Amino acid sequence: MNLPKPKKINADKYVAGLSLFKQKAAKIKLSANESALGPSPKAVKAFNKVFKNIKRYPDSDGIFLRKVLAKKFKLDFNRIILGSGSDQILELICKAFLDKKDEVIIPEYSFIIYRIYSKICGAKIIYAKEKNFKISVKEILSKVSHKTKIVFLANPNNPTGTLLSKKALIELRRKLRSNILLVVDDAYCEYVKEKNYSSALELFSSSKNVIVTRTFSKIYGLAGLRVGWGYGPKNLIQAISQLKPPFNVNRAALFAASESIKDSKWLNKEVLHIKKWSKIFFKTFKELKIDTNYGHGNFMLINFDKIKKNSKNVFLKLAKSGILVRKMEVYKIRNSLRVTIGNSKENKKFIQVLKKVINV
Ligand SMILES: Cc1ncc(COP(=O)(O)O)c(C=O)c1O
Repeated sequence: MNLPKPKKINADKYVAGLSLFKQKAAKIKLSANESALGPSPKAVKAFNKVFKNIKRYPDSDGIFLRKVLAKKFKLDFNRIILGSGSDQILELICKAFLDKKDEVIIPEYSFIIYRIYSKICGAKIIYAKEKNFKISVKEILSKVSHKTKIVFLANPNNPTGTLLSKKALIELRRKLRSNILLVVDDAYCEYVKEKNYSSALELFSSSKNVIVTRTFSKIYGLAGLRVGWGYGPKNLIQAISQLKPPFNVNRAALFAASESIKDSKWLNKEVLHIKKWSKIFFKTFKELKIDTNYGHGNFMLINFDKIKKNSKNVFLKLAKSGILVRKMEVYKIRNSLRVTIGNSKENKKFIQVLKKVINV
């Protein structure tokens, strides 16, 4: 019997942190860079109101949320596209731009979704080496060929937590061929307060060849609702919008996101909390001789070579104590784990258990 045969997809499947532990839900989840303090109470209130009207479809164009975003960031409403998470914007960009034989340049240790969607669209991934887990503009430029269509990067980068300076990002755009699309993922930008840093939205809002993605999953604490957005030149956003599924962002997400963006007091609280605990984590890791770089997002990358421990064992022992962090094998970062900064109670427990696990 001849049966339907799906196309062969030459891409890894995304493995979410918690799916490894479905049966035995971890009590403390520090594996997905979710917000430490959760959503603004105003967003929760908006969410709770929506249930009365769930028989209605959401606004397919997300006009209200796009207006709130346009006002907040002084942007052109027509150049904003909403996605079911910023993941979906990244997917739509790949679908809109990539064909077989195209090349996509990605820094060596970047968010895995860029390579998954690019490969699904048939493109070849070209990796640009990083130096000390930092994205190198020189390396990216050295990988450009006549087939290069897109360069993807996140700033701050996930999973390394490192930053690309404002100057370096501008240089990258200036030196890249103009018909190469630069996609900058601003997922963690709100956590950065360094002077030499500017978010891509601030730098490239009038650019003709940059698309910026943002998310409500991190600082806004709405990961479970799936809402993100993209900003770019009108013609490119129009092309991507043609591929956008109707009603891709649900009612609850639209309303909660619109409220959360207005609550800057709540966002500042989250930033201060992350800054405070980044310092504590950094100091603690140094004392324990666990190698780390100061994470500029809400997470840290840690390496166990110096103390001669195996990251897989550390991961398992933490998991057995109900603490889930992120393994780094898929990123090919040796003997390392990525830890999200949680709330104070979770962080204290994590430090206490980690010390026990490494026998300090
Ligand atoms: C750099 C980066 N971009 C995008 C995302 C995905 O965000 P969203 O939940 O909006 O799809 C993540 C999530 O971990 C991320 O680390």
